[in-house]
Amino acid sequence: MAIERIVQPTVDDGSDRQDAEEQEFELKLRPHDFANYIGQERLKKNLQLAIEAARKRGEPLDHVLLYGPPGLGKTTMANVIANEMGAQIRITSGPAIERAGDLASLLTNLQDGDILFIDEIHRLHRTVEEVLYSAMEDYKLDIMLGKGPSARSLRLDLPHFTLIGATTRTGALAAPLRDRFGHIHRLEFYTPDEVQQIITRASGILGVKIDAAAALRLAERSRLTPRIANRLLKRVRDYADVNGDGIVDTEISTKALELLEIDALGLDPADRMILMAIIDNYSGGPVGVETIAAMTAEERSTIEDFIEPYLLQIGLLERTPRGRKVTPKAYRHLGKNKLSDSQASLL
Ligand SMILES: Nc1ncnc2c1ncn2[C@@H]1O[C@H](COP(=O)(O)OP(=O)(O)O)[C@@H](O)[C@H]1O
Ligand SMILES: [Mg+2]
Repeated sequence: MAIERIVQPTVDDGSDRQDAEEQEFELKLRPHDFANYIGQERLKKNLQLAIEAARKRGEPLDHVLLYGPPGLGKTTMANVIANEMGAQIRITSGPAIERAGDLASLLTNLQDGDILFIDEIHRLHRTVEEVLYSAMEDYKLDIMLGKGPSARSLRLDLPHFTLIGATTRTGALAAPLRDRFGHIHRLEFYTPDEVQQIITRASGILGVKIDAAAALRLAERSRLTPRIANRLLKRVRDYADVNGDGIVDTEISTKALELLEIDALGLDPADRMILMAIIDNYSGGPVGVETIAAMTAEERSTIEDFIEPYLLQIGLLERTPRGRKVTPKAYRHLGKNKLSDSQASLL
């Protein structure tokens, strides 16, 4: 059983799926335009330019693929793009489109300039994916009528739409699909300063009184991820309401984070368990991700899509051709001594 944790994606398969309560909470905090979308400067610059050009030409925006770990703002950005284009957005997800016919009806119901957002696009069924190719490339829909010798195919014109796809991993996307996106962008982890701004903005919306130092403290422990920052803010607010006068200062946030067992680098017990397991059982690695999954009872996809990117980002883990290796920085963080190879061989 994987440990339930605040820093974890809600659904424990590494995907972005969430429960209704969290969705509602996030909706409230979601920025609607570039001005309120903090950070991701390069992405914003590129998209702003593309949007302006498309608008000038009176054409739909070229298809956009957004990828990166959960919680960094892919869904939010899809909505911002629609808003900035003045376009309608239709939202669905890869696993929700079960048959080619479902996609066909989605596509034929779009209007010129509409945006179709497909979340978790790497989980599209292959047969559905194939329908997308000609839709994306020529705005055509090929459908088969009838069966057997009398079957014939029909080409339908589709409205000129923009597809925005989101995925935690482009590696899982078939090349012909990936190649049909005009804009492919990776979302980066945020800086602590940017996360602090996000927390301050969210506090304003939620009416939470928080001082700058406390906002920075939360930011530093949020895995450089807006979704987690907002979740921590919610938990710390609860703590302040119960154990204080509702004001979030450094002392309150430190105590609340301690209670949640989140350490100075934003790691929770499960992260530490993973690093310790590699250290204790494999002298720090390298070790394959399958083995890590087996040792720790975490899903492989959770490790790859969610846990590992952050540990790599802050330099606690490194990827080698033979697997994942714990870095000296991780040993120091965990207060462990690294044995030399000769010492290890005596054990
Ligand atoms: N750049 C940003 N500025 C402010 N808030 C953000 C930003 N990116 C994400 N968020 C917040 O984080 C939450 C999660 O973002 P979301 O777009 O759902 O992530 P993803 O789709 O990549 O998993 C959103 O509800 C929003 O409140
Ligand atoms: Mg999302």
